[in-house]
Amino acid sequence: MTATELRQKYLDFFRSKDHNVIRSASLIPENDATVLFTTAGMQPLVPYLLGEKHPGGARLASAQKCVRTDDIDEVGDETHHTFFEMMGNWSLGDYFKNESIAWSWELLTSPEWLSLDPKLLAVSVFAGDNDAPFDEESYNLWLALGMPKEKIARLPKKNNWWGPAGLTGPCGPDTEIFYWSGNPDEVPSSFNDDNDKWVEIWNNVFMQYNKQPDASFELLNQKNVDTGLGLERVTAVLNHCDNYQTDLFKNIITKTEELSGKKYSDSPEIRKAMRVIADHVKASTMIIGDEKGVAPSNTDQGYIVRRLLRRAMRFARQLEINKTNWLKELAMVVINDYEKVYPELRLNENFICAELDKEEEKFSRTLEKGLLEFNKLNGLSIDGVRAFNLYQSYGFPLEITEELAKEKGMTVDKIGFETELSKHQDLSRTAAAGKFKGGLADNSEETTKLHTAAHLLLAALRQVLGDGVTQKGSNITPERLRFDFSYPEKMTPVQITETEKLVNLAINDKLAVGCEELSLEEAKNTGAMGVFDSKYGEKVKVYTAGIENGPDTANWNKVFSREICGGPHVKNTGELGHFKIQKEESSSSGVRRIKAVLE
Ligand code: ALA
Repeated sequence: MTATELRQKYLDFFRSKDHNVIRSASLIPENDATVLFTTAGMQPLVPYLLGEKHPGGARLASAQKCVRTDDIDEVGDETHHTFFEMMGNWSLGDYFKNESIAWSWELLTSPEWLSLDPKLLAVSVFAGDNDAPFDEESYNLWLALGMPKEKIARLPKKNNWWGPAGLTGPCGPDTEIFYWSGNPDEVPSSFNDDNDKWVEIWNNVFMQYNKQPDASFELLNQKNVDTGLGLERVTAVLNHCDNYQTDLFKNIITKTEELSGKKYSDSPEIRKAMRVIADHVKASTMIIGDEKGVAPSNTDQGYIVRRLLRRAMRFARQLEINKTNWLKELAMVVINDYEKVYPELRLNENFICAELDKEEEKFSRTLEKGLLEFNKLNGLSIDGVRAFNLYQSYGFPLEITEELAKEKGMTVDKIGFETELSKHQDLSRTAAAGKFKGGLADNSEETTKLHTAAHLLLAALRQVLGDGVTQKGSNITPERLRFDFSYPEKMTPVQITETEKLVNLAINDKLAVGCEELSLEEAKNTGAMGVFDSKYGEKVKVYTAGIENGPDTANWNKVFSREICGGPHVKNTGELGHFKIQKEESSSSGVRRIKAVLE
């Protein structure tokens, strides 16, 4: 069974059960600053799981593009990916456990559909704890379908609870389905969670709770179903091969073999390099070629693309791929393989290729020199200053240095590196580095307020210091705001007081904060501040603080600030409290830094 067939069968099956098949949402989450990427099929559906009506009805199914960056270091083995596709079906307050479990079983075992041998399947259900009871209903449903009780494990929250995707939101107990990947003649009569030959293939989540900021679980008004089946993994398991030998990777690997003159089967090292390249180039192509495509950069999603591409390039060097513009050649394979399912890739082909060429050119200039520099290092550990030097002078993201060090039996002083990094100017990179691990940004109420304060601050600075001031970076924690902006001199105490005063006036005026989606062109025409060249795509969000006068913010009175921004923001500046600048200092040449708080 190919992945292409599996994707099709999954969607056809749920169509036959009256589901509406919806298009994959963008990889860049809409209205959600808590995550950098879409990490699960349910993520774009959160408002509907919470009760809003979906235009497609109460039964939906999709193949969703997902990126998870937590396991990037592990990409290179048989199963880990950054980009993957999640097949899913949803009930938005419609059917619940009974249909959900019965349909999963039917799709997996019916001769008309996937025809898996029921003997090779096992399941787990939620054992129950203080937050929610044992899921007896699912347990009994599995028994009734003929699942022997030895193959129905009762497991705790750690295993059988899913969500929320961010810090708060819909979640609930789940039941997971496992497939025996070992020799079918040796399938055990009971399920054992520790035996990794039992591979999880499908997760059915019964989303009936909403996790609150205080970590409690509130019952939702509607009972939902959210399921997820990882297309790459399930295709591999069904074919008894590694993920990279499925049709989702075959052509990319073949192209890499061609470019390098080496074979996937040659050695474990070559296999690892080819997997890293295949995964990372595919993920980068998907992110850049997304409908809300993001180019490589030094911030947020853009910095993740940059790190993925740089790691791919360093493994390409190991494979002795010497051709120029090779990244683009691999991307073309990805586009060809996926264009039917994700047509945006073909539409964005030129953009993808141009960005990959630029990035390849940029890093190949310093990679070689950086490696020479690295090879001069000896001893057991690489200190923070040296790791930082590799980062700053040669563009080595920390994980490249760490990986190279590991190969030589050395370690890297990570904390020393972070210290060096924070001493230096580029705030946004620090922020992106922090987000890289979990993919999570902080979205607490306090950060939202400080985020709005940052908009007011920029507007105030431009009034006090002139229109030459532009934003150069910002970093917000729940406690404080750091803001970098272009300005050649130290601010005087009077200018600082004046700026503070303007921000506080905007707060005291209780200005409305409105959000509008405009095309980049429209946004520019209305005088919105912001980065116009880094984002690609049709629409941008524009946040305006001013006196509200209808939905069209262009008609608002006393507009204090207007910026292109992903959000989120408070609804009214009156929520912010008192704004105070604590420090004004130099950040780098021509760039000043302000630290400020809300009291
Ligand atoms: N949202 C569930 C998962 O990601 C289905 O596993």
